[in-house]
Order: sequence, then structure tokens, then C-alpha cells
Amino acid sequence: MMERIVDQNADSQELSLEQHLRPHSFDQYIGQDKIKANLQIFIKAAKMRKETLDHVLLYGPPGLGKTTLAAIIANEMEGNLRTTSGPAIERPGDLAAILTSVEPGDVLFIDEIHRLPRSIEEVLYPAMEDFCLDIVIGKGSSARSIRLDLPPFTLVGATTRAGSLSAPLRDRFGVLSRLEYYEPKHLKEIVLRTAAILEVEIELSAAEEIALRSRGTPRIANRLLKRVRDFAQVKAEGYISNELTKEALHLLQVDRLGLDHIDHKLLKGMIEKFNGGPVGLETLAASIGEESGTIEDVYEPYLLQIGFLQRTPRGRIVTNEAYRHFQLEVPKR
Ligand code: ADE
Repeated sequence: MMERIVDQNADSQELSLEQHLRPHSFDQYIGQDKIKANLQIFIKAAKMRKETLDHVLLYGPPGLGKTTLAAIIANEMEGNLRTTSGPAIERPGDLAAILTSVEPGDVLFIDEIHRLPRSIEEVLYPAMEDFCLDIVIGKGSSARSIRLDLPPFTLVGATTRAGSLSAPLRDRFGVLSRLEYYEPKHLKEIVLRTAAILEVEIELSAAEEIALRSRGTPRIANRLLKRVRDFAQVKAEGYISNELTKEALHLLQVDRLGLDHIDHKLLKGMIEKFNGGPVGLETLAASIGEESGTIEDVYEPYLLQIGFLQRTPRGRIVTNEAYRHFQLEVPKR
């Protein structure tokens, strides 16, 4: 059962291509300079005191490197990384099984921690605060609680929705780090780094083009690079030129700002069906056939960031900027 819940990152396991592309230390990690600088200090201080690092909550939109940072923290703290996620832990016993197998100095990474049921969160509180586990044995009048000591460990929680975390859980993290969208110069460096690992030749301006169209997100930058590499392999003997990149991105339906067909569907759906809004999230989701949670977590944050969408108490609205991007007449509202 443990294998289902906890994926221990044993050295002997073969690294997948994705893992191979990921940075394994702060030296290799590009961007998020403030978070990186702070974490480096906290890690150094904890090591000087021969203590574990305080629990860390990483939050922000998907694809910005939360899992990668958790792995780097484990690496820099010289502990094992144990990985699980909120939805994988269904019963308090699942979490108890994980916690009792933790070794001193391990980093326990819980992805999507906001999806942990409240009854399970309560098991975490004493584990985080006092490194102990309260277990209830027996039932009814003979039930009694025993307290097990746990080795000191660091919990790294990741979430796209810090607001969905209960206050008691949030308060038990000593380090709260919000990941921001990456700047194009950092994404360009990431594209060049990944291209070097993939051993593919790329023009600098092509890396820049991919960076500009990656919606501030390394995961998207690397995905686009891999698709452009396919075009290059078939059409240009593997060389990624600027011209080929533009052509490939056009065929991939990624526009000048990196918006893809789903962003277009969302914005154009709002424009065509709701005159640009305001429209409620659920109504919008139903009208374009996407889950409201996916819109909220995956698509909307970047559109809000670039000022194409606004959230108002009456619902979402498409901004004049977005109308102009689509070369549409701005409506009178
Ligand atoms: N690959 C994905 N994210 C990265 C990052 N932040 N730094 C270097 N390589 C990456």
C-alpha cells in the first residue's frame, strides 16, 4: 500500500526524462530569485544549528516549479524526499503510515495539500508542531489515545489555492513562499538549458520567442520546446531556427502572447455569448465545456495577470485589452 501513497525517490530508480530536465540544486535553478535566496538562508541556518528546516508552504499557479523546489530542498538538506498528495491520502491511517515511516531529516512533500480532508489535517497538526502522532486504539468506552514520537522532518506543502487551506494548517508552516510567473529572460535561460540537455541546437532568438509565449511558466516553455523540436527534426534536420519556431508555434495554435486555443475559447466564449461579461464562473465553465476548477487554477491566473480578465463581485469580465488583442471592437459597457 505504501507504494501507492508514497513514492520514495530512491537513487536506484531510473530518472524519467522529466526528472532529468529538472534542476537538482539551487545552482541549477533559474528564476524565483527571492524565494531561492530566502530558502538558501533558511536551509543554511537550519544546517548550522543541526536542525531540520521549518515546514514550507509553496503556493502559486501550476507549472512554476513547486515539486522541483521540494526536491531541491530535500537535496540541499541532505534528506530523502517522500512524495504524496492531498487526494492520495484518503484515511487518517494512510497519513499515519507515511509519518511512521519517515526518517530523521526527511522532506515529506504533500502536493495539492488543500485537498487533504479536514479529519486528516488534524493528524498533521501535532506531527508538524511537536513531531508526534496521536493514535486512537480501540472503540467506544475502551478507546484510548496513545502518542507516538516521530523523527524530526520537514513538511513541504504545495498548493495552487492558498486561500483554500484552513487557517490552523496554514499557521503551522514557518515558511510561506508564493511562486510568481517567470520573467521572459529567465524562461529563455530555462529553454536554453533544456535544449542543451536534450542536445538540440537552437537559435537564441528562437529561445526568446518560446520564452515570450510560455505564459510565464517553465512547464509550458519546456513543452513548447519539445514540440518545436519535433518540427525541427522533421523539417529542418533538427535545427531550431527563429523562423521554424514561429511557424511551429503558429501550427500549435499558440499566439503572440502565448495564449492557446483554450484561452481563446474562454475569452471568445465570454465575448460572443456574454458580451464580455460579467459572467459567473460556473455559467462560463458550462458554456465552454471546461471544469470550473481548471478555469480557476490553470487558465484564469495568467489572464488576470496580463490584464485580459477581471474578477468583479458580479462575475468575470473581459477587458478592453483583450478585445484589442483579438482586434475586436471594444463594446460600450
Ligand atoms: N526547468 C524547469 N524549471 C526550471 C527552473 N526553474 N530552472 C531551471 N530549469 C528548469
